[in-house]
Amino acid sequence: MGAENSADIAPGAVVAQDAIDANDASDADDQPFRSIEDDDVVRVARTMDSLRKRLSSIESGMDEKPDWIHLQANCRLDRLRHDELEEILSRMHRCVLRGFRANNVDIAKRKERRKYWTTVAQHGFHDFSERGWKKCYDSPFVENYDYITAYLEGGIEALDPFRVYSAVLGTHDYGPEDFVTTRLCREVDSFIEPMSGTADFSYQGHFRYPDFRYLMFDLDPAAKQHVEAMPWLPQTERQYVISDVLEEKIWQHAKSFTATKSLSYIGKQSHHIFNAKQLYRLLDVATRYVDYFMLETPQVALPSDMDEVDEMTRPEMEDAGFETGLIDEKDGAANPFTNRMSFRLEVSNARRSRTLFNYHDWTLWSQPTLVAMARMLGLNVVYFHPDYEQFMNVDNTEEVEESDCMDNVTFLLFTRHPTG
Ligand SMILES: C[S@@+](CC[C@H](N)C(=O)[O-])C[C@H]1O[C@@H](n2cnc3c(N)ncnc32)[C@H](O)[C@@H]1O
Repeated sequence: MGAENSADIAPGAVVAQDAIDANDASDADDQPFRSIEDDDVVRVARTMDSLRKRLSSIESGMDEKPDWIHLQANCRLDRLRHDELEEILSRMHRCVLRGFRANNVDIAKRKERRKYWTTVAQHGFHDFSERGWKKCYDSPFVENYDYITAYLEGGIEALDPFRVYSAVLGTHDYGPEDFVTTRLCREVDSFIEPMSGTADFSYQGHFRYPDFRYLMFDLDPAAKQHVEAMPWLPQTERQYVISDVLEEKIWQHAKSFTATKSLSYIGKQSHHIFNAKQLYRLLDVATRYVDYFMLETPQVALPSDMDEVDEMTRPEMEDAGFETGLIDEKDGAANPFTNRMSFRLEVSNARRSRTLFNYHDWTLWSQPTLVAMARMLGLNVVYFHPDYEQFMNVDNTEEVEESDCMDNVTFLLFTRHPTG
């Protein structure tokens, strides 16, 4: 099972030209990060002094917060003392909307690298996205993304399964902003997140759209408790309900909860847990009550061609001394006729291993099958094209081929509305 945790984003303007310091040349040539949205504002700092000046002018209200701060040349976090690093990270957290990039960090020693990673993660930034060290959009809360220290103190048993899962499988490069800014979904003001688990989509989205409504539901009371304990902005209208996604009444509730138009999003390919009848009925029922029903789907590939072990170890895991992978259960390899498979998310070190999550009797619902189901139900179906940042017609072969659907997760959207 080989879902990528992030997607290639279309080449675009890497650094907004008007956003670069007067004495900074464009860094487009040595851009180490995946490109960002055209309209993202990036401030570049090449020395610690210029970074501190920039932060002071943002703090005093003279400058607006940029989306990103890009540290280059002599502006090196790896040369700071620990207390200085903490001070700069705290200030950057208050001064950016999205995060910072620092491709000039070069730490040779494993222990020091680990300390740098945990310090940054404890100060509210994660690097699970390939766009840089990121936080929830303009969030005032410093969240702690460090899951490594627990391992160093207590070994494999001390690892938090949700946090490891999120680090290796999160869809961090996509958020609600990608979808509600499309032509198709521009009237959406209500998010429905079925099978929400830790509800990352809604939680991250509400910082950007605090006036939207958020309905999350799941069978797991522990997930509800986890989500309700997170620091949400107080004014946001939200509910986390314990409910089965296959029950029609939760969809009726979603309809009455919706302000104008709703977008439902099932992330992390959770719909693979259902058999064909269940999924078919879900598509039918959900689209009667929500305007747009979206599924995160895997990259287009034959599951039977996937490796027995899908290595997912991140650098900070390696530095801490453990590995993570998606591993086929015994006799769990995908059946090429049915796409049925069984696998587990496992962490291991030299001495032992631990299963964090089991995925038994999982069916990898390929895009053609989902499109066929939609057509049998008379639904319109489109997919999200990351280059155009729009939902596109699945029948246009040339555009489909240009999209990165063979390499990365895609998003299929089902609706009873016209799709243009
Ligand atoms: C892999 S987690 C995905 C969480 C979330 N979609 C995300 O993107 O992080 C799958 C979730 O689906 C929930 N679930 C499984 N069957 C369900 C059902 N029939 N109705 C509602 N939730 C269900 C589980 O409790 C679990 O929290």
